[in-house]
Amino acid sequence: MGKQKLTGEIFYPSSDIMLRARVNDWDEIRAKAEVNPEEFWAKEAGELHWFEPWTKILDESKKPFYQWFVGGKTNIAYNCLDRHMNTAHRNKLALLWEGEKGEFRSFSYFALRRETCKFANVLRSLGVQKGDRVTLYMGRIPELVIGMLACARIGAVHSVVYGGFTVEALHERLEDSHSKILIVADGSYQRGKIVPLKAIADEALQRAASVESVLVVKRTGEPVNMEPGRDMWFHELMTLPIASTQCTIEKVDAEDPLFLLYTSGTTGKPKAILHTHGGYMVGTYSTFKYVFDIREEDRYWCAADPGWITGHSYIVYGPLLNGATSFMYEGAPTYPFPNRWWQMIERYGLNILYTAPTAIRGLMRFGEAWPNRHDLSSLRLLGSVGEPINPEAWKWYHRVIGKGRCPIMDTWWQTETGMFMITPTPVVPLKPGSGTRPFPGLKMDIVNEEGKPVGINEEGFLVITTPWPAMMRTIYKDPERYVNQYWTKFPGVYLTGDSAKRDEDGYYWVIGRVDDVIKVSGYRLGTAEIESALGSHPAVAEAAAIGLPHEVKGNAIYSYVILKTGIEKSDKLIEELRQHVSHEMGPIAKPEHIEFVDSLPKTRSGKIMRRVLKARALGQEPKDIMTLEE
Ligand code: PRX
Repeated sequence: MGKQKLTGEIFYPSSDIMLRARVNDWDEIRAKAEVNPEEFWAKEAGELHWFEPWTKILDESKKPFYQWFVGGKTNIAYNCLDRHMNTAHRNKLALLWEGEKGEFRSFSYFALRRETCKFANVLRSLGVQKGDRVTLYMGRIPELVIGMLACARIGAVHSVVYGGFTVEALHERLEDSHSKILIVADGSYQRGKIVPLKAIADEALQRAASVESVLVVKRTGEPVNMEPGRDMWFHELMTLPIASTQCTIEKVDAEDPLFLLYTSGTTGKPKAILHTHGGYMVGTYSTFKYVFDIREEDRYWCAADPGWITGHSYIVYGPLLNGATSFMYEGAPTYPFPNRWWQMIERYGLNILYTAPTAIRGLMRFGEAWPNRHDLSSLRLLGSVGEPINPEAWKWYHRVIGKGRCPIMDTWWQTETGMFMITPTPVVPLKPGSGTRPFPGLKMDIVNEEGKPVGINEEGFLVITTPWPAMMRTIYKDPERYVNQYWTKFPGVYLTGDSAKRDEDGYYWVIGRVDDVIKVSGYRLGTAEIESALGSHPAVAEAAAIGLPHEVKGNAIYSYVILKTGIEKSDKLIEELRQHVSHEMGPIAKPEHIEFVDSLPKTRSGKIMRRVLKARALGQEPKDIMTLEE
């Protein structure tokens, strides 16, 4: 790769990175995998533990319901923890944690396995069986990781709800997954304030009937309501004889479900993306290993939240499968001061930082003096995820944080893909704003409305044309929607929902969503959810939401509201509506701006034309006005 003449602004890896990289023959690996992707994946899978080997690597007979490692028996939690017990990893640190208030906790692989086994026994004693869904709703604390792994150990299906969501978002997810158990923290710290998670959950539980037991993790120590017969303290359960450290592992099928993760789609309610033990395990293990070029002595930090896919795959599963040391921080990057992150990199000697462009842009605003006050020389690699990174933020990240030495792994992927899809490795020449090329064994394309590949540097739909192990298996309880949403526009081809271009060097440039998904500060929200939250306020007759460009957040939510007859427009009501959305869905969904209107542009069939609202807000001419009703 290094020899090829590339166009545009290129950042070549330093000779130090090239010399020390574990994998130098990346192009060879890619070329080989292109010829035989199944062989590539089978080799990766072979590095993990299988109780029984698979009989078929890929079964395409029910496509698009692809199956991987068919017949294989394994367990991802076994591979994350038990597999390391007879190796030098046994006493290595698995998880380092710092709380927002500055507390520190750490778990060796041995300790993390012990806590997981104990909690898995607690879950079993409460009647949780293989296939049962368990919802977790917490901040970024170690108990969340323990909870996820404990579910996996016994074959239960975890559904983590991001701790920044609130009442209705949690209710919907509890109800749709039909969870019997909710694991919740009493509260979480966010910028010095306490988010009353248990109180929010209590309100959600009034709307959700399926939950039988609520396990409460004490994080803040603030008083909470404990419902007799339903609510139990996690720390009390963990001291009972039932919480033994001996816990038999469920030997699950490769295709048995591991987790549900709700994400926003084009229309309607959030959908539960379903991932399985086998393929997801192989995909996250392999991508983490190559892309972050992980070494024994590394301390790796993914600053995402475990409540989103980035945290699932690259705080919890990918690093633990690789025997890496993963660092997790509870709080906000700028609290109490904008040097909080840099301080922790220095204090713990972190080597890899993986975060989102919005965080970089947010930290950039405070200037270089904050990071420059700290010794960041332990850093070797940087990563970016969640939205396109603008070249200005890329260069700041590279120069100020990476001191020009650390390559940036701009990884494009989705909740649905489970693992990195377009990504460099440390030896790949980089272009700011491009994730370079697809990971080995993957075939992607950019096509026009007719499904034909577009030309060089032309924009089109980003699609994936071959299956990959960590791909979602279905939408939980809604296989039809899975087929319609992802595999129907271009039959047999996976539609990502993003638009992109490919340049003369084959580098991909992802532009953004082409559907009704809005990425706000890297978080994925749907216009439909915001509209439905607004619509649940008694003053609102109808509402529309769009995303408009925002300097730090990437996109900000703008809403247009038609009030019910007789309701007076006022600034107070605007604030009330914003608070209402925050209460129902979460602060991240709170519209930046709300405008009262008398009508909304619609198609003849009555669909809101958000594109027209967007064009109008940006002062552009909306195309396609022909189909408008008014
Ligand atoms: O639009 C793309 C954007 O995030 C979407 C997926 O969001 P989510 O499922 O929440 O997963 C985010 C973390 C994997 C994609 O459809 N996206 C993600 N990573 C990038 C990106 N856009 C550009 N560059 C990226 N590196």
